[in-house]
Amino acid sequence: MNILVTGSNGLLGQAVSKMFIRETDHDIMLTSAEDGSYVKDIHEYHTLDITRKDDVKKIASEFIPDVIVNCAAFTNVDLCETERELSWKINVDGVKNLIIAARINNARVIHFSTDYVFDGKNGPYSEEDVPNPISFYGREKLASENALKTSDVNHTIIRTLVLYGTGEKVKSNFVLWMIDKLKNNEPVNIVTDQISNVTMIEDLALGTMRIVDRGCSGIYNIAGNDILSRYDFAMKVCEVFGYDKGLVRPITSELLNQPAPRPMKSGLTTFKAEAELGFRTMDSLEGLQLLKYQLGS
Ligand SMILES: NC(=O)c1ccc[n+]([C@@H]2O[C@H](COP(=O)([O-])OP(=O)(O)OC[C@H]3O[C@@H](n4cnc5c(N)ncnc54)[C@H](OP(=O)(O)O)[C@@H]3O)[C@@H](O)[C@H]2O)c1
Repeated sequence: MNILVTGSNGLLGQAVSKMFIRETDHDIMLTSAEDGSYVKDIHEYHTLDITRKDDVKKIASEFIPDVIVNCAAFTNVDLCETERELSWKINVDGVKNLIIAARINNARVIHFSTDYVFDGKNGPYSEEDVPNPISFYGREKLASENALKTSDVNHTIIRTLVLYGTGEKVKSNFVLWMIDKLKNNEPVNIVTDQISNVTMIEDLALGTMRIVDRGCSGIYNIAGNDILSRYDFAMKVCEVFGYDKGLVRPITSELLNQPAPRPMKSGLTTFKAEAELGFRTMDSLEGLQLLKYQLGS
């Protein structure tokens, strides 16, 4: 199969790209917004901004993908509240451009969404629960899901949450940020009232590969195996990396004044993915141990 990855330089994009390159015989074309590829394994790379419809159509008509895996997104949830036009252009209009390219080339689209499509009053959520986003980012991601659902293009929506892992020049994520602070003995304030699963990107990449290879369509939740507060997750980071737990100060979300409202009691159930994709995702301790190994620390 020909697999076109967008946003391949992002945290997830790198993990997905490496998984396909390492584990499959598919022809992989990587694309992302930057001039060069951060994934070092041998592959074809092109700069591609998914908001540029003609560029998307051109790349797709040259490569003729069977599958487009969309890892490109505007992922700063708080900035989405103020940068509404730009973030909508990427998170919704960009996906519509991929749908057009998929339709022309008879390709499938694999797209990533989030628990932010829910209000977080009564998680964890299954694939059948009714979305009710409370942030602009959540509304954008739901709009992108709906663009796919109402299209005639074969697609899979993978909902996930709180990604962690590492890669070349990746933006910081919760765990990398904590490590950065705690290794310098700096205290961190961590919320006790935001509850969800957390997801090691390797699990998400593996699930994505299985979805592509098995031709699964519809919605799939892929997320870590346990549900815990951000504070409890921080405690596990200390445990695995050997940092002083006393540096982690419990706080509640109202003290953070985050511009975008968060789904508080969230989480995604993963029974469907486990049953249909045949694998169990890591729990937070297992994921952190793998990350520790990857970081060589
Ligand atoms: N991170 C999470 O906790 C989380 C949770 C739930 C769902 N998700 C979803 O998972 C997916 C991957 O997220 P991630 O954490 O890997 O995000 P990420 O690290 O921010 O990666 C996104 C990538 O997309 C690129 N990009 C931005 N605008 C683009 C454009 N117009 N055209 C092409 N590429 C563009 C970014 O480049 P720049 O860095 O140069 O902007 C970046 O390389 C997203 O759909 C996200 O909504 C993430």
